[in-house]
Amino acid sequence: MNDMEYTQLREKVLERIKPGEADEKQIDEFTTVFVKEINALLREEGLDAEAELHGSVAHGTWIRGGQDLDVFIVLGSGYERDDLHRVLEALKRRLDGDYVEAYAEHPYLQARVDGYSVDLVPCFRLEKGGRIKSSTDRTPLHTGYLAERLTDEARDEVRLLKQFTDGIGVYGAEIRVKGFSGYLCELLVLRYGSFTGLLEAASTWRRGTVISLEGQGEPAEAFKDPLVVVDPVDTTRNVASALSPESLWTFVAAARDFLGEPEVGYFFPSAEASKEGVLSLMDGRGSDLVFLVVEEHRAEVPDSLWGQLHKSHEALRSALTVGGFKVLRSTVWSNEENRHVFVYELESASISGAVKHLGPPVAMTANSESFLARHAGNGSTVAGPWIEGDRWAVLSKRQFTEAGALLTDRLEDGGRGVGVSKNLAVRVLQHHRVLLNGEIGDYLGGGFTLHLHRFLKGRPRWFE
Ligand code: CTP
Ligand code: MG
Repeated sequence: MNDMEYTQLREKVLERIKPGEADEKQIDEFTTVFVKEINALLREEGLDAEAELHGSVAHGTWIRGGQDLDVFIVLGSGYERDDLHRVLEALKRRLDGDYVEAYAEHPYLQARVDGYSVDLVPCFRLEKGGRIKSSTDRTPLHTGYLAERLTDEARDEVRLLKQFTDGIGVYGAEIRVKGFSGYLCELLVLRYGSFTGLLEAASTWRRGTVISLEGQGEPAEAFKDPLVVVDPVDTTRNVASALSPESLWTFVAAARDFLGEPEVGYFFPSAEASKEGVLSLMDGRGSDLVFLVVEEHRAEVPDSLWGQLHKSHEALRSALTVGGFKVLRSTVWSNEENRHVFVYELESASISGAVKHLGPPVAMTANSESFLARHAGNGSTVAGPWIEGDRWAVLSKRQFTEAGALLTDRLEDGGRGVGVSKNLAVRVLQHHRVLLNGEIGDYLGGGFTLHLHRFLKGRPRWFE
């Protein structure tokens, strides 16, 4: 890597993502007032609790334009989980209806206040080494740990890393992405000193690499995770536990390529995709694409929505496989509001009307008998049973030779029978369409065009 070239690139990227003094001042003023107000409200309610700012704004690692504010309501030691709703009710009164109630491991509020998106998260005061009552209790300790260690220069390195991971599609620990959380980025920069220092280390990571900033041992729960980063404030936890193998290895591959030839495109990938472009990528590729479009009025909060979409996506994939269709690849997209699209690329959407089943060896008397009983007089038997080598075999008629017809049939009950999630099945019953190849044209638009474009290309974003 050419040093001067990289220095220029670094400056260029930071110019776009680093908040200026005015941005800092504005957000400071807002949070000071807001936190004070929430504290006054907590006093009024007679709650022994403290509102505190945490997350990337408190750490000084936020990216301009993308900031959400993380305000934690830290409850005193006398409270238990049952008290959380009391805190939330009090907050809701202040928010004037401009919020949604979300549920991760425990309930919190996502609000809009004066144009800012603010997460209001109740948690319990945790002393170092004390007993955790909810997973968010560690957050104030994270802020304390980072405040003592992050320099201004390291903060910029974190910003570069966040933008890089975002550019290659692996930023965020949420279910949709299963990637690198902000806190993970912060710890990795602390460990390796800089963005490029981390990329160099990552280039040679092996499966199951363990990173520990304070020299602590590996947490037991992290045994199977592809990357382990021990949380310095709680050694039982792997900060990288949400990271999927795909996200980790995408990062490693991108790190190697970037070091070979650093380019701004890693941070800000091309988002160009047209309807015509997508349709021509589908033309003549030899495979078939089958789509399921589901529409609804109002989806649930993203994390539970994505949990359901992934479960349902897998369920339909196995329904196709069980039906004899060879699924090569698949993906699911959602605008997180009212439209979800499942995409399956099949070797072929039409398959042979007959399928051969191999039965038991003739030597196995009981099994042979039941195989014969099942197939000999069966209306769907085309030929056989015959003996092939030492085993019985039969040729049967398939129920569905078209993937679209199979899906349509399986979705008659909303897909419940094949494992589509309960809430999504209700939406499927209200409105869905099964489409083949170019028929998806009418639904192209918005973020779906770009998603499908990238899927059809089928290669990392930074290639090109
Ligand atoms: N947190 C965590 N584990 C997660 C998500 C969040 O420990 N999987 C804690 C961290 O202490 C983090 C804080 O919650 O600092 C806020 O989370 P979030 O807003 O998701 O991340 P930020 O670090 O604020 O990054 P961003 O700039 O993307 O908001
Ligand atoms: Mg945040």
